[in-house]
Amino acid sequence: MTTQSIENQLNRLRDKLRYHEHKYYVENQPEISDADFDLMLKELETLEAEAPELITPDSPTQRVGGAVGFGERVRHYSSMLSLDNTFSPEELTDFDRRVRQMLPEEAVEYVAELKIDGLGVSLVYEDGMLTRGATRGDGEYGENVTANLRTIRSIPLRVASIDSSPTLMEVRGEVFIPRDCMDGINRERVENDEAPFVNPRNAAAGSVRLLDASITASRPLDIFIYTLGYAEGIEIGTHSESLALLVEMGFKVNPSTECFPSIEEVIDYCHRQTAERENIAYDVDGIVVKVNSIAQQTELGYTAKSPRWAVSCKFPARQTTTQVLDIDVQVGRTGVLTPRAILDPVHLSGATITHATLHNEQDLHRKDVRVGDTVVLERSGDVIPKVISVVKEKRDGTEKVFHLPDHCPACDSPVQRSTEEVAVRCVNSECPMQLKRRIESFAWRSALNIEGMGPAVITQLVDTGMVTSVADLYDLQRTDLMKIERMGEKSADNLIREIEGSKSVPAARVLFGLGIMHVGQSVAELLLDRFSSIDALAAAGVEEIASIHGIGPKLAESVCHFFQQPANQQFLQRLKDAGLQWEADDSPAPDISQESFFTGKTFVLTGTLSQMARSEASKKIKECGGKTTSSVTSKTDFLVAGESPGSKYDRAVELGVDILTEEEFVAKLPVD
Ligand code: IVH
Repeated sequence: MTTQSIENQLNRLRDKLRYHEHKYYVENQPEISDADFDLMLKELETLEAEAPELITPDSPTQRVGGAVGFGERVRHYSSMLSLDNTFSPEELTDFDRRVRQMLPEEAVEYVAELKIDGLGVSLVYEDGMLTRGATRGDGEYGENVTANLRTIRSIPLRVASIDSSPTLMEVRGEVFIPRDCMDGINRERVENDEAPFVNPRNAAAGSVRLLDASITASRPLDIFIYTLGYAEGIEIGTHSESLALLVEMGFKVNPSTECFPSIEEVIDYCHRQTAERENIAYDVDGIVVKVNSIAQQTELGYTAKSPRWAVSCKFPARQTTTQVLDIDVQVGRTGVLTPRAILDPVHLSGATITHATLHNEQDLHRKDVRVGDTVVLERSGDVIPKVISVVKEKRDGTEKVFHLPDHCPACDSPVQRSTEEVAVRCVNSECPMQLKRRIESFAWRSALNIEGMGPAVITQLVDTGMVTSVADLYDLQRTDLMKIERMGEKSADNLIREIEGSKSVPAARVLFGLGIMHVGQSVAELLLDRFSSIDALAAAGVEEIASIHGIGPKLAESVCHFFQQPANQQFLQRLKDAGLQWEADDSPAPDISQESFFTGKTFVLTGTLSQMARSEASKKIKECGGKTTSSVTSKTDFLVAGESPGSKYDRAVELGVDILTEEEFVAKLPVD
């Protein structure tokens, strides 16, 4: 056979496979069985193996492998903006009013689409071939994830040609995982000793950023394209025209998209979709409403971070009911006893809920939650589930009223009830449970930032008696840590390094880490802005402290009380002797008058930075108007990863948090 005829045969086979891939993955209307598809793919693979020089990157056999630049930071052709949120029909009407005010006398048409709760990505096609796929990142720069996006079979590696195919084109869409695939993925993760994903969004984000594209290929990822971002040489009049064009080119566009001449009909659509929400196979967190005319979009323009021609309408928080199997009691770092409902496990917004806090005895009795009750649970986004109310009609008389115990469940000492506050406390300063919580908050809560000092390690340190005070952490030796179950040499070294590193954390965060009642992160900063050091604060009287704007007498009293306790004085001396920062940071107040990349963003630092200490990086972020926290949550905007990042890195990947290398981070900092 001549090369030409082999090539023709290969092309015919590829076209057929592309056609069936499109039928199956984009249109959900397969025409042949999976087995027949696989046979055809095998045939192509065999032929290509015989003529490897004829393999093209857009061949259906080339979904895994073959992309370069994975993980690199790439600049988007135009910013990937976010949307302003609305939560009610009134707010949508306001949006409509604003739009019409800017477009007097003009008819306005809206397109309403589902807001898919996944990972926003950009796909670049050059001469019809997919050449780059990137995450949204900070909107301006994303992460090159081409190799992984190529494995998603609803993404065409080559677009179908249209009348005047653009030479350069960028499309944007949302990668997601259908809800019913979560169980399978999580079962596999648990078997591999990995934490299950809390919801489909995290699963999608984690899968797209995996280093091994063959694992990504095994995940049931899918995509809906919602924007034709840039298309050289193509003139488009409306957003709906661009969606039609995208469909023509072979992209998967959400079929629920509709066009309306008035906001009332859009609101109607929102109501219909909200009612349908549970029946949709993937997570949708609201509706996106866009002005259809591109000319009008241009006329309306943008604010600093979002377009004036589009808005999202968020769905209300999801609720469900379940049974309270029992109520147990947790002891916090200041000894407060907190009742917690143990629930019949229930699925809500992509997570299995097994516990919910009942806050305090008063709240528990106000809601009248009893053991055996059926309760309404609510969870919005990633936040902790809340017990909203009790379904009293479901009671059968066997429910048991719960009272907080008279003795601490951890150390058995009598608890203190005061008439002044709601909280019931264990006042035993040696209560092991309180100590564990104190170490936890000392190490984790935006305080001393000791990575690796997690609940399991803390439990062992306290239960074995190695640590009987937070200050003992600074006496720990490598050999002590090695006695801890599952603690290897490397982890012990890392933990010692982390403890050492915490000595450079600014004094305000040390103060916060002490766990003084009512002294949160910002109060700690306020106190140290006024007093030059922790010692100066310790020597101050109630009135002097209370004279600070923003500090009330109750808080001032709590601070004084803490420093007056002889046991605390000893403990503080030990921390100071260990070398912790004690003096207030007297660098100039942060200049946040100018908007910067950091303004309003939350960062987490992990691993060893080579150009500066973590505390210095943290200070710089603050100076630029951002903030740093110690643990990665869905609210984290960026993780700055230095050398040998630990579990925070994995958590960031899991949650889809954007990751900056040290170089990228330094490049964002203003030049001194
Ligand atoms: S339009 C400027 N349409 O929601 C236009 N976004 O806050 C912005 N999203 O990160 C995007 N479904 O990843 C648009 N049908 C849809 C969407 C959608 C999900 C995501 C997108 C973006 C975020 C906007």
